[in-house]
Amino acid sequence: MDKAVVLTGYMGAGKSSVAAELGRILGAEVLDTDARIEELEGMSISSIFKQYGEAYFRDKETSLLEKLKEEGFCGILSTGGGMPLRSANREFLRDLGCVFYLKASPAAIARRLSEDDSRPLLAGAKDMAEKEKRIAAMLTEREAAYEDGADIIVDTDEAGVKECADFILRKLND
Ligand code: S3P
Repeated sequence: MDKAVVLTGYMGAGKSSVAAELGRILGAEVLDTDARIEELEGMSISSIFKQYGEAYFRDKETSLLEKLKEEGFCGILSTGGGMPLRSANREFLRDLGCVFYLKASPAAIARRLSEDDSRPLLAGAKDMAEKEKRIAAMLTEREAAYEDGADIIVDTDEAGVKECADFILRKLND
């Protein structure tokens, strides 16, 4: 691969699973920005948010993209759900390769994250209904950034991991 395949989208959209499947099929390196930042900082995303705050984490995301661009990263890049919010990040992602926005509805996301408590931005929701409401509000705020940063939108609501990966591979070969 001479360019990266970049996956963006909200938490629970399936970025990590689809990235792993693409990596398997293409025999390419898979890099997860959250995992890399956890490694570099030596602590979990939740602890980074707690100890240093969200702005610190966002700066780490931007520095990581800058570094990947410098290195000419050309594997599969699975990004944290807030990565496209900064316009500078959207530019870095576009420079790295083809950007696929994995889109999912609030209901699908809430279902997929029902047992998950690793996401600091959704922590403390008292039930599924409140979680879904929070997700819907954040998605409304973020949608324009996700769409603006994307080359191609992948609707994941009705599609499984394999179908999403196959759709992406078809688009890459178009
Ligand atoms: C975030 C999504 C998370 C992680 C952090 C913030 C967001 O990544 O980067 O908790 O702002 O949507 P995932 O999308 O991999 O859960």
